[in-house]
Amino acid sequence: MPQSRRKLHIKTFGCQMNAYDSERMAEALAPAGYETTEAMDGADLVILNTCHIREKAAEKVYSQLGRVRKNKQARTAQGRDTMVVVAGCVAQAEGEEIIARAPVVDIVVGPQSLHRLSDLVAKAESGERSVETEFPADDKFTALPKRATGKRQASAFVTVQEGCDKFCTFCVVPYTRGAEYSRPAHAIVAEVERLAGAGVREVTLLGQNVNAYHGDGEDGATWPLARLLRRLAEIPDIARMRFTTSHPRDMDDDLIGLFGDEAKLMPYLHLPYQAGSDHILAAMNRKHTAEEYERLVERIRTARPDIALSTDIIVGFPGETDADFQATLDVAKRVGFAQAYSFKYSARPGTPGAALDGQVPEALKKERLAILQAQLDESRRSFDHATVGRRIPVLFEGKGRKPNQIAGRSPYLQAVYVEGPETLIGYIAEVDISAAGPNSLTGVMNAGFEWREPIQAAV
Ligand code: SAH
Ligand code: SF4
Ligand code: F3S
Repeated sequence: MPQSRRKLHIKTFGCQMNAYDSERMAEALAPAGYETTEAMDGADLVILNTCHIREKAAEKVYSQLGRVRKNKQARTAQGRDTMVVVAGCVAQAEGEEIIARAPVVDIVVGPQSLHRLSDLVAKAESGERSVETEFPADDKFTALPKRATGKRQASAFVTVQEGCDKFCTFCVVPYTRGAEYSRPAHAIVAEVERLAGAGVREVTLLGQNVNAYHGDGEDGATWPLARLLRRLAEIPDIARMRFTTSHPRDMDDDLIGLFGDEAKLMPYLHLPYQAGSDHILAAMNRKHTAEEYERLVERIRTARPDIALSTDIIVGFPGETDADFQATLDVAKRVGFAQAYSFKYSARPGTPGAALDGQVPEALKKERLAILQAQLDESRRSFDHATVGRRIPVLFEGKGRKPNQIAGRSPYLQAVYVEGPETLIGYIAEVDISAAGPNSLTGVMNAGFEWREPIQAAV
């Protein structure tokens, strides 16, 4: 056992898979005596878990490293050491360059090598800087310690699939996360059972291409995502399941059907379409047309009429004309998204899109993004307003912003605030939605809420 507790501060950028990796890094370092802290200046070890998806995201690392350097200097003046780790997708993409550009960094570790982190930290303690960005043959999930749940939490992420073989021409993920890999079902089931035992009621299965999941099943067959979800639905304390992110090409009939058959699968689906014009979709290598996407949406809505759809959209991909952009607006209008994330195209080094002719000027991208976002906001507001007056089951996840207020999520992933006791955190209760604000709903707790045993202490 370690003699003294040391402090670890992790700053997470990027997607939910990074959030999951950050939790796992904290767990991997716990046996070495590290406990997490919110304050960077109190930390003996600082980890930046980075994202490379767009230029802005990647640049954040260097501005953060400036802060980290100042913090380290201040601590050094007080006679305290600070170790600095850059993890995540920038680490994978830039490797050695980070060490060269930022002498403050001790360790650079890619997302596939996280299980090597505690060894690298031990090495750095004896003064050895390292860069670990291999895609090792041993899998990080098996090598990482068993999932601990130090926190009392109602909802948890579980990475089930990593990497991507799709090679959309704008995207760095296939280079930073490597080839598609699915975890075996038994490992996922064990992890979810453990989470359920610690009080988790909702799991969100994560993967860059989660619906391409094809892991070894418990029966020896290869299981698609629908089969895995059916198995997880058998775990009694798991009340809600979600998965993200899905590619339109990988939505099979079984998975679509599950939205109609499996009550634990929440009526919410994040399904990026990226662009509404077929020639832009082809240049992006998305391998589907706008019409195919809309037909898919119809099939999903037939299976689950109240489903809330969410999406990702890129504006200003090379060659995008006004008419192409209009087609993107038209798809969004016809589908009516409950939620959407939209971005200006960012040329990423090494991706085919960066080398294409017809790069769109920044000012035009900005203009198009503003038009699109205004329309998407409108669509989200109208979805939210349509829930006003309804009675909706809410899973309470934490305290609200005001005293006596608790916060949770609707089945459609809307944030819901109500007055209620903190003891309801971890429970699902029916709420009469009374108003929709810009980012959340408010309502009144219905008396007939679900009674369960209180959340267990952490396992
Ligand atoms: N696997 C997911 C997306 C992962 S990245 C999928 O296939 O949809 C998340 C989102 O970031 C993407 O959906 C895309 O909309 C956006 N994105 C990715 N690369 C980008 C780039 N170079 N410029 C702008 N947006 C980008
Ligand atoms: Fe990137 Fe496309 Fe893979 Fe999604 S499907 S991670 S956008 S390459
Ligand atoms: Fe970013 Fe890597 Fe996720 S590039 S979006 S952190 S997979």
